[in-house]
Amino acid sequence: MKGKINRRESLKSLGLLGLGLGQVEEFTFSKNYLPNSSFQNEKTSRKLTAITCGAGARGNTYGNYALKFPDELDIVGVAEPIEIRRKRYSEKHNISIKNQFTTWEEFFDKPKMADICIITTPDDLHYGPAMAALEKGYQLLLEKPIAQTWKECNDILQLQKQKNAIVAVCHVLRYAPYYRKIKEILESNRLGQLVSVQHFEPIQYVHMAHSFVRGNWRRKDETNPIILAKSCHDMDMLRWWINKPCNYVSSFGSLSWFKKENAPEGSTKRCTDGCAVESTCPYSALRIYHRERIWLHVLDLPEEKEKQGEAILDRLKTGPYGRCVYQCDNDVADHQIVSMEFDDDITANFSMEAFTDYWGRRTRIMGSMGCIVGDEEDLYISDFSTKEVEHWITKEYAERDSGHGGGDFGLVSDFLLAVDKNDQSLLTSNLDASMESHLMAFMAEESRLEKVVKKLNLG
Ligand SMILES: NC(=O)c1ccc[n+]([C@@H]2O[C@H](COP(=O)([O-])OP(=O)(O)OC[C@H]3O[C@@H](n4cnc5c(N)ncnc54)[C@H](O)[C@@H]3O)[C@@H](O)[C@H]2O)c1
Repeated sequence: MKGKINRRESLKSLGLLGLGLGQVEEFTFSKNYLPNSSFQNEKTSRKLTAITCGAGARGNTYGNYALKFPDELDIVGVAEPIEIRRKRYSEKHNISIKNQFTTWEEFFDKPKMADICIITTPDDLHYGPAMAALEKGYQLLLEKPIAQTWKECNDILQLQKQKNAIVAVCHVLRYAPYYRKIKEILESNRLGQLVSVQHFEPIQYVHMAHSFVRGNWRRKDETNPIILAKSCHDMDMLRWWINKPCNYVSSFGSLSWFKKENAPEGSTKRCTDGCAVESTCPYSALRIYHRERIWLHVLDLPEEKEKQGEAILDRLKTGPYGRCVYQCDNDVADHQIVSMEFDDDITANFSMEAFTDYWGRRTRIMGSMGCIVGDEEDLYISDFSTKEVEHWITKEYAERDSGHGGGDFGLVSDFLLAVDKNDQSLLTSNLDASMESHLMAFMAEESRLEKVVKKLNLG
């Protein structure tokens, strides 16, 4: 186990540093670190232009690439309904007033104005802009999940094929050195015949409360079930690593804790309403946002530090993030397990858990001649024949500041090269590659609700 990490390090590992507006100086990304990339250090032959639908956290993450590598990417338009976000994003990227819009629809009433459309709108607003952008001839950097239903995902795939467009699904882990290293080991057959995988995603209790109880991904009708919204990355990793079709899934899980019947006596609808247990509640909004000052990017605070305390209290009194975690309108599961069977009898178990004080992902991979144990920071590769154990250390390869262990900028870099060379095969997370893992997540949710094993049918 690792020792304690400080707040800055913990924010980094959550990918939060650099999410804030105007914080590009947090990045120290260099292209050299990406292992296994056929085009590391390669730059695009020209500056590509992009428009961004949704200037929230992810829109800024990808937009920051343009600030770091201005000779490769220029953001020339934005659609964002929240005025302060639109204004800050436009200032940051020097976007002319005529290319600033309130909603994504307005982009597509206009003639095509850039090479690329970055879709970083909420989950329920991927399908509309993706279809419209493809119709208009844009290449897409499309946030995951692709869309809210299997049919919508398929519609996007069909239109992408018809238009011969380059589409990158933002499965950023595929571009992170740690995940690539595991892929490389599996492809080298060092483990012999792959037999099974155990993969664990601890969400961490504050992250859970922030995103999946109070925040944007709390309701599956508005966004997606958590197995898709959060864990489609993990389904994608499993499918990518195992590199064989998944045939069956079964899943169990529920929302066990964050509901009204678990509200402590004396608790109030908002943490700011004089709640009797506020000072000891681990989920207290006052503790998270006001005392510890984390996850603040959603609050659109004033730049001036001296005004922020009052602004936070104001947001907590009226906005979604001040609500008691036991009195929200959330319905997504807080723990879920999925068992899967792939071709050649390879089995995989996945477990998503809210109730941990650590985050990241833990993986064990078992083969006939060796095994892997990893926790995103250290990777131990054992060889049964020689009894040797290789210790591979992520931080020697990854610039964590780019978010997702280096995956965020790695994705953009590969995507831009694919667009520049008009070659979809330069991307690992194209639409074709991402469809099956989405189906695994859709089927897992059906299995959880119906309590039956589901057979995957890609046809
Ligand atoms: N790849 C990853 O690892 C990863 C991580 C986090 C989130 N995501 C996904 O990225 C997407 C965005 O997430 P986020 O955290 O940036 O959310 P966010 O809420 O910070 O940003 C979304 C932005 O879209 C804007 N928006 C809403 N309606 C719009 C409209 N009609 N037209 C244009 N913009 C509109 C919102 O005002 C908001 O600013 C989600 O689908 C999410 O699931 C992916």
